[in-house]
Amino acid sequence: MSLPPGPQSAAIFQTIRYVTKPIPLLEECRAKHGDIFTLKLVGSGDWVFLTKPEHLKEMFTGEPEVLHAGEANKSVFGAITGSSTVLTMDDKEHLARRRLLLPPFHGERMQEYVDITRDITLARAGSWGAGQVVTMQAETQRMTCDVILRAVFGLDDSADGKRLGDLLTRLAEIGLGSPILLVPALQIDLGRFSPWGKIVHIIEQTDEALYAEIRRRRTEPIEGKSDIMSLLLQVKDEEGNQLSDKELRDELVTMLLAGHETTATGLAWAFERALALPDVLAKLRAELDTVVGSEPLSRSHLPKLEYLDAFVKETLRFRPIMPIGGSRKLTRDTKLGGYDLPAGTTVTNCLYLLHRRPDVYDDADEFRPERFIGVKTPNPYEWTPFGGGIRRCIGLAFALLEMKVVLAAVLGGWDLELTVPEVAVERRGFFMAPEGGPPIRVVGPRRRTSSTGVG
Ligand code: HEM
Repeated sequence: MSLPPGPQSAAIFQTIRYVTKPIPLLEECRAKHGDIFTLKLVGSGDWVFLTKPEHLKEMFTGEPEVLHAGEANKSVFGAITGSSTVLTMDDKEHLARRRLLLPPFHGERMQEYVDITRDITLARAGSWGAGQVVTMQAETQRMTCDVILRAVFGLDDSADGKRLGDLLTRLAEIGLGSPILLVPALQIDLGRFSPWGKIVHIIEQTDEALYAEIRRRRTEPIEGKSDIMSLLLQVKDEEGNQLSDKELRDELVTMLLAGHETTATGLAWAFERALALPDVLAKLRAELDTVVGSEPLSRSHLPKLEYLDAFVKETLRFRPIMPIGGSRKLTRDTKLGGYDLPAGTTVTNCLYLLHRRPDVYDDADEFRPERFIGVKTPNPYEWTPFGGGIRRCIGLAFALLEMKVVLAAVLGGWDLELTVPEVAVERRGFFMAPEGGPPIRVVGPRRRTSSTGVG
């Protein structure tokens, strides 16, 4: 058995550097140790970082029984998501559940969510005053949370809908934003006012309301409803069994967890890129003016917004929201990337380094949306913000659609400017977010005769 080379410092130092400032560490490792290297992370052993398309292909197409993702996910997210979810399952159980969940996430189905996303975006942006400075990450988080409450949970403006919505928003903000999630050893409930006890209390309150909603919805007619909860209330496995209340609860909370801050961080970076690069912003707006003009943004516009599509893909390449995306724990000794890796090792998709490879991307350190023009589906081993193989993100189409609609509505309708000359990368829990949000000044509604979705 052999592990790829890596730093010789104690695991605690490697972990602190990885958790606080991953980018300099990853760049240093690539320079010193090459395309495949090992980091020792406290509490979770040896992590082998893959940065080459050939190695990622081996990982994403390898045997699922050997490459366990659910096990790794469960140790981090299980306390909030529960264990009956696609995220924390492995093997046959995982495949069977994934098969049940996929239809509501199909690209075509997603079109239903265009209007919801546009309306939520316009309402939020409509509350901005001229001259106000907004923290973009907080704004996009509010928007993506509201989109999930409507499109996934199907919540309406009734008193019960609002109460559950408030509880889920609090779970998303306080529970999921907690650094304790990264350290399972600290997840000890010492009463309602202890850090983890507070989160347990929020989970309990939210569960009570969510289970009540699930029970209520089982008795209601489903025809004509297109939210994901309504669709999942109808699905049946091969034996004709429906999802139980607990399974439904765990899947819905997983979607809140997996789909909210991820998309919000991608959006915050997209605004930073568009506002930092006047040429790019001009191209985005020229396309929006031609394709959308003064009409309200609708699903028929999206396929024609080619530059916007390329811009979103380039944002996720250039500023991935996480240094890694998709990890697998080996259940037995395995040959991968030219090494005989021992059972128990975790291999991971190091997308930050992959996306900056000069042999894969020309001028990899330059932000150039044009590289994705006409590329409907990028190579799955070269562009991996959503992981890959049978575990690839279920919400990919949802997230891309949401990002495009929010960007089109805001950039088409408002004049905005960055208030800082440069925006650094900041570690926020799992994420690599734009420092300070970034802070953006709302100049006012866009000064032109036609606008996207407003006026
Ligand atoms: C920009 C936004 C997003 C990014 C970058 C992202 C990224 C990822 C990544 C890297 C994985 C792990 C894939 C792997 O192990 O190979 C994943 C899994 C997952 N994501 Fe996303 N995600 C995003 C949005 C969403 C949304 C909107 C939803 C749902 C509403 C969602 C639901 C899930 C689920 C359920 C899984 C687990 C899939 C499985 O294990 O089979 N994600 N995502």
